[in-house]
Parts: sequence; C-alpha cells; structure tokens
Amino acid sequence: MHRLKLKKLLTSVLTAVSLMCYGQSNNAVEQQIENLLSQMTLQEKIGQMNQLNTAGLTDDMKGQIRSGKVGSILNELDVQTINELQRIAVKESRLKIPLIIARDVIHGFKTIFPIPLGQAASWNPKVVENGARVASLEATASGIRWTFAPMIDVTRDPRWGRIAESCGEDPYLTSVMGEAMIKGFQGDNLNSPSSMAACAKHFAAYGATESGKDYNTTWVPEVQLREVYLPPFEKAAKAGVATFMCSFNDINGVPSSGNRFLNKQILRNEWKYDGMLVSDWGSIEQMIPHGFCTDLKEAAEKAVLAGVDMDMMGYAYINHLEELVHSGKVNEKLLDESVRNILRLKFRLGLFNNPYTKERTQMPYYLAESLQKAKDAAIESVVLLKNNHSVLPLNSSVKSVAVIGPLSDSQADQLGTWCFDAEPEHCITPLMAIRETYGKQVQVIAEKGLTYSRDKSEKGIEKAVAAAQKADVVLLFAGEEAVLSGEARSRADISLPGKQAELVAALKKTGKPLVMVVMAGRPLTIPKETELADAVLYAFHGGTMAGPALADLIFGKAVPSGKLPVTLPRMVGQIPIYYAHKNTGRPASNITLIDDIEVGAKQTSLGFTSYHLDAGDTPLFPFGYGLSYSTFNYSDVKLSSAVISKGETLTVSCNVTNTGNYDASEVVQLYIRDKVGSLIRPVKELKGFEKIFIKANETHTVTFHITLNDLAYWQADMVKRPETGEFAVWIAPDSQSGKEADFKYQ
Ligand code: BGC
Repeated sequence: MHRLKLKKLLTSVLTAVSLMCYGQSNNAVEQQIENLLSQMTLQEKIGQMNQLNTAGLTDDMKGQIRSGKVGSILNELDVQTINELQRIAVKESRLKIPLIIARDVIHGFKTIFPIPLGQAASWNPKVVENGARVASLEATASGIRWTFAPMIDVTRDPRWGRIAESCGEDPYLTSVMGEAMIKGFQGDNLNSPSSMAACAKHFAAYGATESGKDYNTTWVPEVQLREVYLPPFEKAAKAGVATFMCSFNDINGVPSSGNRFLNKQILRNEWKYDGMLVSDWGSIEQMIPHGFCTDLKEAAEKAVLAGVDMDMMGYAYINHLEELVHSGKVNEKLLDESVRNILRLKFRLGLFNNPYTKERTQMPYYLAESLQKAKDAAIESVVLLKNNHSVLPLNSSVKSVAVIGPLSDSQADQLGTWCFDAEPEHCITPLMAIRETYGKQVQVIAEKGLTYSRDKSEKGIEKAVAAAQKADVVLLFAGEEAVLSGEARSRADISLPGKQAELVAALKKTGKPLVMVVMAGRPLTIPKETELADAVLYAFHGGTMAGPALADLIFGKAVPSGKLPVTLPRMVGQIPIYYAHKNTGRPASNITLIDDIEVGAKQTSLGFTSYHLDAGDTPLFPFGYGLSYSTFNYSDVKLSSAVISKGETLTVSCNVTNTGNYDASEVVQLYIRDKVGSLIRPVKELKGFEKIFIKANETHTVTFHITLNDLAYWQADMVKRPETGEFAVWIAPDSQSGKEADFKYQ
C-alpha cells in the first residue's frame, strides 16, 4: 500500500479508537450529529453557539432554553437548578439538545490543591493528575461537566498575576503537566458522570503579555510562538483535550478571537483538532475596544470566520449571526462546522444519554483520601531554597517555636487564586497544624506581627520580636494574599508587600534561627530576605492542606522535593529572565557590580558583556532548583554513542546517589543545547525529567532517550527539523549545574 494511504488509514483507525473511548464510535456519533444538524433551523444552530452566565431559574432563562437559544451555561452550581434547566432543554425545546454546564475548576472545587504553579513545582505529573481527578469528582457531583482548565500559558513574567494559574516558564514542563491535568479531569472516559471536559486555555501567547500587565498586547514572532507558546497546546490537542479557549490578548495585532491563523490554520489544519473552541468571557465583543472591529456585528463576523465555535457571554453570535448569514457575509456552512463541534462535545460527555446530575444527600467533598492527596501535593509543591547549618528540619533540641507572619494563620489566603467554590473554614493553616500535630513536642508562641500581607502598620512587629525572643526558632510565614495574584492582578513591584521586609529584618536582629516560608502566587523578589533567613521554603499558595504539609516539612516528617518551575529574579528589572535564553555575542563575564565601580572610573574601564550593573547576570534562584534534606550526587553520565544519525535514538544515563541521611525524592533533569543553529538556539532546553525516590545511600540509574524530534526546532521556513552539528547534554539537578557531555548529529 502507498505510504501516504497507510498513514491516513492508521490515523483514522487511531481517531476512531480514541473516539470509541468516549463511549460511541466515531461514525455513529457523526451520524447522529448530521441527523440533528439537518433538522436544525438557523436560529437553533446559533443558539448552540451561545454560552450564558447562569441567571438561575428565571422565566427569561427558561424561555431562552426552551426556544433553543442557549448551548451552554456557566457558573450554575445548584444541582436542582441544573437538573431543571436540563429538563427544560431535553423535554421542552424542539430538538431536545442538552446543555453543557461549565465552571472554572482550576486547582480544586472544594478540596483545594496548590495553585497550578505550585503543582508544577512538584515536577510530578501524578500529583497534578490526582488534583484534577479530585476536582472532577467533587465538581461533577455539583453538576459541572466542563471546566476551564488547564491553563497552559507559558509565561516568563512573574509580574503577570496569572502566572499563578500557569505551570511556569518552560514549554516542556507545561506540556507534561497540562497533559496530566487533562487526564485527571477527563478520566478514562469522558462520558462517565464523574468526568469533566477539560479546556486548554488561553490560545495563545497570553503569557507573553507586555510588561506582565494582564490583557496587554503581545508581539511574538512565529518562530517563538511555535517554539515556546504553542507546544503545550499541541500536546493538549493530541492528548484529547475536549475544548480550547481563545485568549484575551492580540498577537501581532490580531486578537485571538478573530485570529484565523491560530484557530484555523494551526488548530484545525495543522493539528486536525476536532474538539470545540470557546471564546473567553466577552472576548469577541472586546475586539471592539481592541480596535479590530467597529461594532458587535463585525466582531461576530470576524470571530465566526476565525472558527470560534461558542461565544462566552459576548452576545455577538446570538444578536448578529442570523443577519450575517442572511446578508451573505457568513456562509451557514461555517456555523454547521461549529455546531458539529459543540454537538460532538455533548455526545462525548454522554449528555444525550443522561443530562442529569444525581441529587445526593451526601456530597463527595473533602473525602479523607482527597485531603490526603491534597496534602501530598502541597508537600511536593514546596521548594527548599536555602538551609544553612541544616536548621531544617527542626531537631529535638528545639523546644519552642515562634509562629509569625501574615500568612501563618490565614485560611483564605493559602487557597490562592481561582477557587470560587472553596470554603476557607476547611483550610488548615500552618499555625493550626503546628499546634495540632507538634504542639506537644514544642511550645508554640504565635504572634502575627502583621495582620495581612500589605499591612503597613509596624505596631505588631515589636510583639513579634518579643515572641521570637522567647523561642528557640522563628518560623515566619511571609508572602502575598490570595487576592494579589490571578486574573487582573498584575504587580509592577513584586517584592514582599507591606512591612514584611521590616518584619524580616527585625526578626533577624533577635539572633534566633530564622526560617522563612513564602506563600505566594508568583515568584517574589526576595534577595535581601533570603540573605537574612537561615532557611527558606518557597510554598506558593498550597491550598486546603498547606498547613499540615508545611508542618510536616518543618518538623522532618516529610522531606522537600519541589523544584522551581520558574526562575526567581533578584529584581524586577531583570524580567524577563529565564533559563532558556540565548547566549548573545557577549555572554556575561568580568562582571563589575555598581557598587564596585570606582568613583571617576572611565567609560571604557568595565567589561563590555551582557549583564545588569545592579543585578549581575544571574537570577536569585534558577529554574529547576530545589534542595532536599538529603544530598544527591550525580555521576557516570553515559551516552550510548557520540553520534546520532537519522532514525536513531541516543540513550543518556546517569547514576544518582542519595548521599545524605534521609530517604528522599529527587527531580533528575535532562537538558540539551544545540551549539550552532541557522537560528540561534537557547543555552539550555529541558527535554525530559524524572522524579525518583532514592533511599539513603542507594544509587539509581536514570535513563533518558533523545530522539531527533528532541533535537528538531522551528526554522525560518517554519519547518521543524533538526540540524546536523554538535550538541551538549546535561543530566542535572537544576538548569544551572551538571557536567556537560557532547554528541553529534550527522
Ligand atoms: C478568564 C478565563 C475564565 C473565564 C470564565 C475569564 O475572565 O480569562 O480564564 O475561564 O473568565 O470564568
């Protein structure tokens, strides 16, 4: 058989198999879709493309559903209301098409896991999958069958509040974590009542927002778009994510919701995606203030021509598509395509068989096993950045601890952003957990010092110092409140807010060992505080079980194993700072920092290399970095060959020995560098990682396989291929260390 034909046949078999996993065969579903479509009026098609925010059981809402004017409703949470809305849709509307009920279930519904950035710090896809599964079990019991997650926008700007929802700066790590989340939300079978359709958002390049200001413009050359921002989305499409969502931003002058290149050329033509594409909230309408459309009618036209299937709260489609079709500006066939995608999703979810949610007396919220998974996730999300004199874990000579800081006992703040349905009263804070679990072992002296993160009053600091003086060790829980990160929560100054820097300095003066735990929605610039503290744990916002997780880490019942999914800058002016940068023609060397420049020094007296006078060339902590209570030694990096040729795979292995006293997990990372390229390549690129548990004094051999696909990159002609030449490879504990080995592709 001709090769191309064979490939086509294989692809269709695979598609059929994957669709069968959704419960019905491809053909049977497609047949039903066509049947329905052939009976639909133009208005009914447009109705399917309309998503509205819930208005409960108002007459207006019921009437719209009855007359087929709504395809999906978001934010309704009352099961009885949802069932009644569905009953109207499937019993009283002409074609009996069920609704899809949607909600943002981002890092938990009731049981809240760490923010996605924290989950990414676990470098453990299973943790991420578990989080999404628990969220799915809880949210589907409330009638939600579609979540707007995972958010897989790569971002290199911690000023952007939505970095909290992301998996950080790296396309590979984000791809792996995004896929795990999709698996968790969608389960083995999308038509199971406990599965939710996932949504890959925001398509695309939202994380490239200028100056980290939300909704801002992005300028992204196509090569960078394909290299950095698109890979997680392509992976999500291949992983069978049920839906995609447009982003708010414009890319190179074209808003995503009107972007044919993204939504048609890439998503549909190149990736062959057959799921559904929804706009973001009002993003079709917002093409007017963007300056891309004069009015809502033009916005509807541009969005539908760009292949946006569903209008989320924009009223553009419902108000204008009919006229656009009648006037000949929009071909009805385009609407048919969108409606097919929407109906396909409803079939995949099994909504035609059973649109209802079981009404239960006992909801599956906060189950013991869910809380345990949330605690495990919170433990794995914490990154140990510093541990001078092994102050952590606290040893048995510590008889008293002072628990201080605005985040030490704030149930709502440790939840982080995007958890509308969480109940803070279910959260266990660090103070609560330390008292509860370790209160017999140590005396706990609590004094917040500052009542909330932005608190500018220094009144409490004196009391905090007095508490510190009475204790053997100071545990300071610093950071930012939940409300300071997330959508529209960009910050230009990302240092510790309020008087926290003063609190750290005052506590340091007591001379007591100072452990600082940072609970935040983003990387904060904390160079001074890191210098002053004896130990630093970066905990992000850890969710419901953040307290017990941190308490166990501090007292040594658990060992830190998180690694940074994003670079921590020293100061804002370094942003964007990320590990996969280019080398430049004058890489940093002979660094003279601003305070070391002699007065009256000549312009020519300093080195002419690439760095900041006041920040140097390095971040505070690099991507991939994180310590353990144990230590690991990397040795014997072995390559299966010094040369790789077409069709071959290179095997790279390394021995990792736990040389410390604790059984512990280590994230072993694989980086490569293409030394010379027709387009310059980054100094390092993550190509693989493995989190392994190693007992003290034991050695594990970790093996990675490098294929030509790992060496390939998008070249100027927009073809992804590898170039022959020399490559470097590292197996390392982070992006800045490890011994280089070389190989050639020829
Ligand atoms: C956000 C999306 C979210 C949507 C629905 C928008 O403001 O950008 O991420 O899914 O609202 O709540």
